[in-house]
Amino acid sequence: MTGRLHGVVAMDGPSGTGKSTVSRRLAATCGAAYLDTGAMYRALTLAVLRTGLDGAAPTAGDVAVAAANDLESVTDPAAPAIRLAGEDIEAEIRGPAVTAAVSAVSAVPAVRTALVQRQRELIAEAVARHGGIVVEGRDIGSVVVPDAPLKVYLTASEEIRAARREAQDRKAGRGGDTVTVLADVRRRDRLDSTRKTSPLHAAADALVIDTDELSVEDVLAELLRLVRDRGLLT
Ligand code: DC
Repeated sequence: MTGRLHGVVAMDGPSGTGKSTVSRRLAATCGAAYLDTGAMYRALTLAVLRTGLDGAAPTAGDVAVAAANDLESVTDPAAPAIRLAGEDIEAEIRGPAVTAAVSAVSAVPAVRTALVQRQRELIAEAVARHGGIVVEGRDIGSVVVPDAPLKVYLTASEEIRAARREAQDRKAGRGGDTVTVLADVRRRDRLDSTRKTSPLHAAADALVIDTDELSVEDVLAELLRLVRDRGLLT
């Protein structure tokens, strides 16, 4: 191992930047925990959809907040998992229905309050147990852990991000043509960046990495250099 991570690495950015892959790899490499906060918003969205409600309806927020009590996130980077009332929902939350509705549910302020609180608890627990955690999302450096010793914001062009998403979907057996995936990437970017409560943006002290021309290995090497330079590895 390269060394153990101490403290929190906040990884933010839109979808298709390679955030999940590099966050998980970084955590595994440094003996740290890993938390995918997007999976938590997706899980509550699934709970809303299962009631037959539209993601934007006022009562959908109540359903989502109630479901937060039944949510379980496993922060092991070798086997991350998400469960709702004991059910493994990993595959279902990646499907098109949840992807289409998640921005509306995650824009509801009460949903964000409930999940941010839960995320802070999980982070404190992981730091106490493992020393460090890599947390990925949209508002980690700006809201969830504003005092994180390393904040990274990954970006990439819309076209590259859509192409990565399409390849990922194909690998998971979910077809989707380039035009639809690109339109979905643009729609989610717009909704996630313009919502009133903690919109997607790079924290003022985040290091921005453009991944257009970088492989997963390149980004991982850069992240390892950063954690080492910040004195977060022992
Ligand atoms: O990372 P992802 O694509 O699985 O995230 C799904 C959605 O959840 C994304 O469109 C916005 C929302 N999200 C959020 O609002 N805040 C976070 N910290 C993580 C995700």
